[in-house]
Amino acid sequence: MRENKGKVISVFSNKGGVGKSTLAVNLAVYLASIDKNQVALVDLDLMAGDIALMMDINPKSTIVDVTRDISGISYDIIDDYLIKHSSNVMVLPAPITPEQAEFVSPTCVDKILSTLMEKYDYIIVDTGPNFGDINLSALDHSSKIFYITTIDIPAIKNSRVGLDIIRRLNYEEDKIGLILNMHDKKYGVSQKDVETILNKKISKMIPMDLSTVVSSSNKGEPFVINMAKKSISKSIAEIGQWLKEG
Ligand SMILES: Nc1ncnc2c1ncn2[C@@H]1O[C@H](COP(=O)(O)OP(=O)(O)O)[C@@H](O)[C@H]1O
Ligand SMILES: [Mg+2]
Repeated sequence: MRENKGKVISVFSNKGGVGKSTLAVNLAVYLASIDKNQVALVDLDLMAGDIALMMDINPKSTIVDVTRDISGISYDIIDDYLIKHSSNVMVLPAPITPEQAEFVSPTCVDKILSTLMEKYDYIIVDTGPNFGDINLSALDHSSKIFYITTIDIPAIKNSRVGLDIIRRLNYEEDKIGLILNMHDKKYGVSQKDVETILNKKISKMIPMDLSTVVSSSNKGEPFVINMAKKSISKSIAEIGQWLKEG
């Protein structure tokens, strides 16, 4: 068991398609590539998790198996349920079918995350686009919540609603890192506009780079590994370094 508990980092937005899974996968892989970090990646998008696919791993066990055995779960056996990716990231995949999601309760998620915190330096949690109890138990464990928005008006509107809810739930403001994904100056909405509408400073930006993101996700190879020189990979590395510092 570790002396200090590991850090849970949740990647969240109440909207789908903004890049949560893309960031979660690539950030986990980046963190595992530095400082000999032990990194776990938990797919809590229970209805539509696609991390196993994005990392080209066979989900021979999933969060549903841990749930089945939850009373006996402890830090010394949790690895039996995780799947090791070639990057050394240990992955806990989402249920294979959406109807299995109902077996996973918020109490199970609490236990899984507390157990992983006894073993791993970082536990990156990918989430589904909602404020359900499963996500709230992840947010409760998190030392950092990366709230993702993109630069289109529907996403910004949803982010305003989502950030309002997060604030009303009393998560500390400095726990929340606002990440602007798919950034491209040509879209006519500036970083400043987004900050004004959301009443929050953007912590980090990830550029739009369709060819890198789609080709890496189709191959099941996170881009921070094979395309480390691309500016999108550098932006993920910056987020990882920022976590390391604080
Ligand atoms: N920075 C980016 N540039 C280009 N495409 C991106 C970027 N981030 C994500 N995408 C694409 O957007 C889509 C949604 O991303 P995903 O990570 O699955 O979002 P979410 O998990 O929030 O639903 C995917 O097709 C992904 O490849
Ligand atoms: Mg996703």
